[in-house]
Amino acid sequence: MSSIGKKALMAASGLVLVGFVIAHLAGNLLVYGGPSALNAYAEKLRHVPPLLWSARVFLLAAVAVHIATSVQLAIENRRARPQRYRVQRMAETTLAARTMLPSGLLVLAYVIYHLLHFTFRAAHPELSRATDALGRHDVYAMVVLSFQQPPIAFAYVVGMAAVCLHLNHGIGSAAQTLGWTDERTLRWWARAGRLLSFALFIGYISIPLSILLGLVG
Ligand code: HEM
Repeated sequence: MSSIGKKALMAASGLVLVGFVIAHLAGNLLVYGGPSALNAYAEKLRHVPPLLWSARVFLLAAVAVHIATSVQLAIENRRARPQRYRVQRMAETTLAARTMLPSGLLVLAYVIYHLLHFTFRAAHPELSRATDALGRHDVYAMVVLSFQQPPIAFAYVVGMAAVCLHLNHGIGSAAQTLGWTDERTLRWWARAGRLLSFALFIGYISIPLSILLGLVG
């Protein structure tokens, strides 16, 4: 496949993942509605297994495509320029643009930890066992008990900083790769990407921080 084809796949799979990150935040914000709101939502998601599993397979495929194409493109770039510049020229201007590989690796590490924590409940099983009065898995208690622990809340804030740093450059860059921009809208897309990633950062970190500060729970 050509580099252009790989770039398009990387951009499209990245945007699928951005869609998930937006929808996941909307669901997570139900923590502010109390235990019944969050637990009912989590239960409803599990209620239609075919839908849940097709969404999971689709998401996993997007992650696989995104990682495979970015690794291949990184290797191709290195091959095309076997010797590193003696003086590193910063063709890309922002911190987010220059750190896509490290921030991407940090996102991957964060997602693996997050799945072990909340989905497989293997990372902190003692915080994940409760069921509520209706016999449902008590997702609310799991989230609150977890974020009352400063090291866990801190790990999430760092993970979400990586997610949002990655999206800060990724969204505008994907729009450009997919040919959605012209000279006029290029800056608009870059700005929209930065704004969206910042809004996601604030929305996500508000959850561990408000629990850690005792405002929720
Ligand atoms: C405050 C931040 C977050 C909270 C409180 C949170 C909460 C949760 C919870 C409770 C689950 C398990 C749902 C269940 O099995 O009942 C979950 C699953 C998941 N989360 Fe998060 N999450 C957060 C941030 C993120 C971020 C930033 C990402 C992506 C970069 C993410 C990706 C996922 C994925 C991929 C799953 C698995 C979904 C599935 O079950 O297939 N989460 N999250």
